[in-house]
Amino acid sequence: MTRLGILLSGRGSNFRAIHGAIERGELPAEIAMVVSNVPEAAGVVYAREKGLPVFAETSKGVPRAEFDRRVLGVLREAGVEWVCLAGYMRLLSAEFIQAYAGRIVNIHPSLLPSFPGLDAQRQAFEHGVKVTGCTVHLVDEGLDTGPIVAQSAVPVLEGDTVESLSARILEAEHQLYPATIARLVRSR
Ligand code: GRF
Repeated sequence: MTRLGILLSGRGSNFRAIHGAIERGELPAEIAMVVSNVPEAAGVVYAREKGLPVFAETSKGVPRAEFDRRVLGVLREAGVEWVCLAGYMRLLSAEFIQAYAGRIVNIHPSLLPSFPGLDAQRQAFEHGVKVTGCTVHLVDEGLDTGPIVAQSAVPVLEGDTVESLSARILEAEHQLYPATIARLVRSR
């Protein structure tokens, strides 16, 4: 079983989708550690409910290199092989990225390279695109720049709001992310 580390900062719906896929036997992996830089995040609450190992400490006021070294230690100790970012609202240090080179994945709510960074759904909506979606990519040192692994297209419909569009993209994320992680861990 491939050992996954999940890094999150918020509600953790993608984490729950990954966990659900594992429980249903669709993803041959186990969650070896859930890390959060926001101790009160909903994702942390869910991880604890499910009895998963959790490391949750605020990153506020801690230099990036130092915080990431701590996280790296926790992940290594837990035998984590792949790191899945699931709404982790923090850039990773170069040392962290090198330590897990080619084995850090992220999901982003747009069709990259369009609309990287924050609020991607709103960026796409305000730009007036007719199709947007989500992207799973490997993480490098840039902001949402690493090699693209998979994408799912989502149409912008007549009468959409940023909220309705974001909700439709999120549903696509919940399908795409676990399926793509499954493909990655099977192929390596
Ligand atoms: C998702 O939209 C994901 O694409 C982005 O951050 C959000 C996380 O949502 N990277 P959740 O915490 O998984 O619900």
